[in-house]
Amino acid sequence: MGSPITAQPKITPKNAAFDFRKYRPFAFAPKLTDRTWPDKVITKAPIWASVDLRDGNQALIDPMTIEQKMRFFKVLVEVGFKEIEIGFPSAAQVEFDFTRKLIEEGHVPEDVTLQVLVQAREHLIKRTFEALKGARRAIIHVYNSTSRVQRDKVYGKTKEEIKQIAIDGATLVQQYAAMYPETEWVFQYSPESFSQTETDFAVEVCEAVCEVWQPQSGQAVILNLPATVEASTPNVFADQVEYFCRHLSCRKDIIISLHTHNDRGCGVAAAELGIMAGADRIEGTLLGNGERTGNMDIMVTAMNLFSQGVDPELDFSNMSEIVQVVSECNNLPLHPRHPYVGELVFTAFSGSHQDAIKKSLDYNEKNTDITDNHWDVAYLPIDPAHIGRSYQDVVRINSQSGKGGVAYILQRNYGFNLPRWMQIDFSRVVQSQAEAAARELQNDEILHTFEQTYLQQSDYELLDYSVNNKAGAVQFSGQVKAHGEVINIEGTGNGPLSSFIDGLAKYTGSDLHIINYAEHAINPHHLNYDESEIDTDRENKTDANAAAYIQLNVDGNVFSGIGTCTSTVSAMLKGALSALAQAPTSTSA
Ligand code: KIV
Ligand code: ZN
Repeated sequence: MGSPITAQPKITPKNAAFDFRKYRPFAFAPKLTDRTWPDKVITKAPIWASVDLRDGNQALIDPMTIEQKMRFFKVLVEVGFKEIEIGFPSAAQVEFDFTRKLIEEGHVPEDVTLQVLVQAREHLIKRTFEALKGARRAIIHVYNSTSRVQRDKVYGKTKEEIKQIAIDGATLVQQYAAMYPETEWVFQYSPESFSQTETDFAVEVCEAVCEVWQPQSGQAVILNLPATVEASTPNVFADQVEYFCRHLSCRKDIIISLHTHNDRGCGVAAAELGIMAGADRIEGTLLGNGERTGNMDIMVTAMNLFSQGVDPELDFSNMSEIVQVVSECNNLPLHPRHPYVGELVFTAFSGSHQDAIKKSLDYNEKNTDITDNHWDVAYLPIDPAHIGRSYQDVVRINSQSGKGGVAYILQRNYGFNLPRWMQIDFSRVVQSQAEAAARELQNDEILHTFEQTYLQQSDYELLDYSVNNKAGAVQFSGQVKAHGEVINIEGTGNGPLSSFIDGLAKYTGSDLHIINYAEHAINPHHLNYDESEIDTDRENKTDANAAAYIQLNVDGNVFSGIGTCTSTVSAMLKGALSALAQAPTSTSA
């Protein structure tokens, strides 16, 4: 049985059970040499069908209560699902009762269609129709397994016998539907494990089902193609879908639906390629809960469309609330790196990423006239604000971080727009602090270090001063408290700063030169960000509205400092004292 095991392992695994020779290549790829799907682009959203309350629910450790199902159902409606598989009413009383509650209490909006699953067995079909009594419109989803392994090993049935189960199921569904004419019925059939079924056989079974249902005469029919267990690369699944669509005689009269699982981690990719290959509809769950590795994650697939400028026709703007309901009802935690919604997915810790994000955002802000208004920011596939995420998430600081990230935090949260040379100076301080702490630093810790390093140095304090312009030269005259002692500073230069530096040089006896200088008004609100994130409390506490950054050469060594004040001149003089205070020789006067 099976193919002979010939290949010899190149390494000897520590555990002999780790034996790849027990597996063989995927055997159900149809022969398709002129596939067309690779050239297709998805330009519109498929029909979405949520199976959270059925496939998702049946995979939970503790299946949902009626109350949880109701809470989840309301979120699905709010997100915009028009087709919702609410359960398997013949399988458990709670499933039956939930169906009745939705219908009897009128919870189903006019434009939403309920879907329920049932096996192709009469007593189950009968009970399912009872559960749906009174529904305005409903999709009755019947299935049986068609895969080789299920035929041979689970049911011990031939292909003909398996096809007959599908035909009998379809016939019963049709007969029972006729007993409830007040409901508009949509018939759905799934050849379960479609992707592990010979595609020709899947076509044959589905043709037989369509023979019964007669979609060409107007009966609404969905054929749903499940990758019940994902067992191939997504391109092979796309070939299967394209092959199926091409060989089905009634293709134009039916809706082709996909139902992918995630065993190889490609549930979303397979569904996307399957849509390119001709499918009209996708079943999946929010956040991908489902049997084993889960179902295809509809939220990710929809956001993938969104990020390509395609209307996903589902509203995820209120993502955090949706995620909260889903995780609470499923009682499953969310991985911090879950695409689009994980805690860390918009966060850059790495210095080069932070730098690139900051530069892109700054560029966009400064060039509103030339940028075309489309989102285009390095390392951020979408604007976090579009799904209600805060810019606080974007940059977080640990020992891997660099100057751009630290500068981003100071600019975005506290209004300090550090020039590059100042960023380099301060990022060294932050990096050693993060290394020493061996953990992430919070924004307020960074601000505290910034203030302690530059703004709260106690060696020098600017007291009174005056600057006069005499015959083209500026004269500085004032007092500075240096190491607790009030001293007079007199200097001359071509501006207030250079005359002050001249006076300081005389006082310290050091060789002092200005290398770099920058200043700006501190006004966090001029930044085009969400104001709710700005620390207004701190803003109210400070009366500084100018910041000046000075880089001094002190006896051949470079030191940087910052001053803040209500006046620009005082801010720059304080900045010079802050830089001087960094110099170890600054006390030598
Ligand atoms: O994964 C699957 O095959 C299913 C079917 C019942 C559609 O959930
Ligand atoms: Zn499934």
